[in-house]
Amino acid sequence: MKPCRIAVLATLAFVSPVLAQSGDPSRGQRDFRACVPCHSLEPDRNTTGPSLANLWGRKAGSLPSFDRYSDTLKASGIIWDDRSLDAWLADPQRMVPDNEMPFEGIKDSRVRSDLLAFLKEATKPGGAPERAAENRMKGMGGMMGGDRAPNLKALEPGQRVTSITHCRDTYRVITADGKRRQFWERNLRLKTDSSQEGPQSGAPAIVPAGMLGDRADVIFAAPEEISRTVEARC
Ligand code: HEC
Repeated sequence: MKPCRIAVLATLAFVSPVLAQSGDPSRGQRDFRACVPCHSLEPDRNTTGPSLANLWGRKAGSLPSFDRYSDTLKASGIIWDDRSLDAWLADPQRMVPDNEMPFEGIKDSRVRSDLLAFLKEATKPGGAPERAAENRMKGMGGMMGGDRAPNLKALEPGQRVTSITHCRDTYRVITADGKRRQFWERNLRLKTDSSQEGPQSGAPAIVPAGMLGDRADVIFAAPEEISRTVEARC
């Protein structure tokens, strides 16, 4: 009786992908750091990739608030569940050729099952906010930086840009505290964030970028503000 059951279990383990049930969610939470630069767990909080909130049972490429799905993911017909997510995370390009997730996959099936055990809980309604906030913190500090900057609606005077001039290869950025910072033009990035967390219109924000302190991002509420704010003047 016993050896027979073991044989059946062994066969099952061999033919079926590793499922979320068998994973360790706390290890999975750590493994999720690989995803944090591009994915949040809060509903409709989209960054580089779509929010993963309420993922189980969702049709691939179907989140209405995410505008950047590839055609191939949208047309894949996949419904996300333990099995399809396991295959996606193992090798996204093999499962959906030409998808636009820049991620090579996780070969280790134990890591995938830990990650899925964590995600299955964390993507449930109400399962996310606290964890998501925590993960966002972790994701933000480093160079990965794909996640958003902190809320830019309430800026310190030193973060609020009042004018920018460009002369030869240099940007000079004046902030509301009267200070002037100078940047080699390749070290200053001009970006927009039109979401709720972007700056107020007319109050672009400067935030440090990179680790050496020589780079920064100026984030505007809308693209047309860029040309209004940056003036060619020496
Ligand atoms: C560098 C950014 C990046 C990383 C890292 C990344 N993803 Fe993605 N992910 C994306 C993008 C972009 C898409 C949309 C792909 C498309 O439309 O082809 C996506 C799509 C997905 C989808 C499909 C969602 C849907 O609405 O259909 C899932 C699930 C997913 N990613 C899970 C993960 C997990 C789990 C990790 C970590 C192991 C991860 N991703 C790592 C950027 C990323």
